[in-house]
Amino acid sequence: MEYEEARKQVIEACLGMQKKGLIRGTSGNVSVRIRKYEDAEPDPRWAEEDLLAMSPTSIPYEYLTPEMIPIVDMQGRTVHEGTDTAADEKGREPFSCRPSSELPLHLAVMRARADAGAVVHTHSKFATIMGILGQKVPVNTIPMVYYVKRPVPVVPFEIPGSEELGAAVTRALNGSSLDEKFTAAPRKAVILEHHGLVTLGKDIDDALTVAEYVEEAAEIAYYVSLADSADYGRHGLLSLTGSVSGSIPDAKVKKMLEIADSGRAL
Ligand code: 13P
Repeated sequence: MEYEEARKQVIEACLGMQKKGLIRGTSGNVSVRIRKYEDAEPDPRWAEEDLLAMSPTSIPYEYLTPEMIPIVDMQGRTVHEGTDTAADEKGREPFSCRPSSELPLHLAVMRARADAGAVVHTHSKFATIMGILGQKVPVNTIPMVYYVKRPVPVVPFEIPGSEELGAAVTRALNGSSLDEKFTAAPRKAVILEHHGLVTLGKDIDDALTVAEYVEEAAEIAYYVSLADSADYGRHGLLSLTGSVSGSIPDAKVKKMLEIADSGRAL
């Protein structure tokens, strides 16, 4: 992929997250992988030579132009700086276009998962609620079966932008859990406690689709748990333990995964 195309995809994804209500202000960030060997199967052995187009830190998304998107290598070094070429023309101070503060998180995920063509971090509301409750998002809707395939676990809180956050996310992305015996599909989403959601996809559309449907599933799971709760108050909700009710039964999920694998729409 050309730099220009990857940079445009980053901007469109940021604006898309905003439009879909998955972020507010300058929250969230996006990276798009530029593969060195585009025709080869994704493999960690050559992924180290890839580059990332990374959303810049703290710039309101409506100001972004392709030139403002920095390109970094897999060690996090900027190989093409982002520059605010429109500042003069618009008569304002130029933005400094440094890579997102969550670069360590994006690098960690891109390193751990050579299949990831894009990584998206949102601050979406219901995913955050589920994270604070410590409740994984179940496979409770058809799009969850089709696009996500597994429950979405919660990663315990780590400081935003830290190496520790990146390490905790990659551990969870590559981990499995006893209640997921029906699928070995690679995990595509994790919730960050108090801090939203991280998704990956084969490309940017895939990563964004996962983010949108996990948020929908989280909202549904939240309302189901409220309705299920004998006590609608704070205590009743917090006293819920184990998985949130409302999962599609494992055997049915398995069946639907087979249907999806055969190419039929669900
Ligand atoms: P950046 O503007 O540095 O990407 O930070 C936003 C954010 O959401 C941090 O988690």
